[in-house]
Amino acid sequence: MAGVEMPRIGLGTWRLAGEEGADAVHAALAAGYRHVDTAENYGNEDAVGLAVARALAEGVLTRDELFLTTKFNREHHGGPERVRPAVEASLRRLGVDHADLVLIHWPNPEQDRYVETAAALAGLVETGLIRAWGVSNFTAEHLDRLAEAGLRAPVDQIQVDPVAAIPGWQAAVHAHGAVVTAYSPIGRAELGIETREAITAAVARTGRTVQQVVLRWHLQHGRVVIPKSADPARQAENLDLLSFSLTPVEMAGIDALDDGSGPRQHPETFGH
Ligand SMILES: NC(=O)c1ccc[n+]([C@@H]2O[C@H](COP(=O)([O-])OP(=O)(O)OC[C@H]3O[C@@H](n4cnc5c(N)ncnc54)[C@H](OP(=O)(O)O)[C@@H]3O)[C@@H](O)[C@H]2O)c1
Repeated sequence: MAGVEMPRIGLGTWRLAGEEGADAVHAALAAGYRHVDTAENYGNEDAVGLAVARALAEGVLTRDELFLTTKFNREHHGGPERVRPAVEASLRRLGVDHADLVLIHWPNPEQDRYVETAAALAGLVETGLIRAWGVSNFTAEHLDRLAEAGLRAPVDQIQVDPVAAIPGWQAAVHAHGAVVTAYSPIGRAELGIETREAITAAVARTGRTVQQVVLRWHLQHGRVVIPKSADPARQAENLDLLSFSLTPVEMAGIDALDDGSGPRQHPETFGH
């Protein structure tokens, strides 16, 4: 993203909707979050917009200090005549005149329109409606198709956690020169990450929480993270990742938790 900086810790907002959602996003902005991740599909762009408007009105931050990401759904895939109205509708719901990053939420390969969608989205950068474009849930194959068309997405937002770390997929994203933003970075409860020795040992040494250790592992691997929390104390915890670090041995121990499984939803069989 030439000339565009994305803060490495953002607030995920899936399931933060309505007034409660707006309050949670507002609390995060007041606590220092400067990157918020939303999507048309979350049905909460209005709530995020409300929180942003309140924070701007209160002088908590300026628009320039905020990095706002949104994403659009499969029915908007196609040329500029589809993509531009989708982005404009998101901006209206968010109550802002531009987004910092807009992502194609899923490639939906069965529609086979993601390449022209990416071209149309990239074309919006020069209009000022968006500062940068990117993709989400794009595999090596999808990124290859974009590259063949001369399109290089600067970011791919994909599901990464210590147990489902998809190293091959991440390597493909890096090979295309893109940054990985890790979604669902903390990992689902059923994976039992908090009981793994590599995690408990790092928690014991650093005096940090499981979630902080996992998020710090992502950061040390150069990923952007967008943990979601509705709770101000947990939001603050997730933002406090720069005051400690993991040793190379701890990093390797967490790397070894990868069990080779993929994300819970795969773009070949899922999309919206
Ligand atoms: N591009 C995509 O297709 C895609 C798909 C899924 C998600 N996303 C994005 O990624 C964001 C993050 O993913 P996610 O929401 O699936 O999962 P996540 O952020 O990894 O985990 C969220 C869960 O962890 C809990 N939690 C957060 N911080 C905690 C802490 N410090 N201690 C204990 N529990 C904590 C939250 O509960 P509380 O709220 O109660 O704290 C919530 O139940 C989403 O919100 C969304 O913005 C993108």
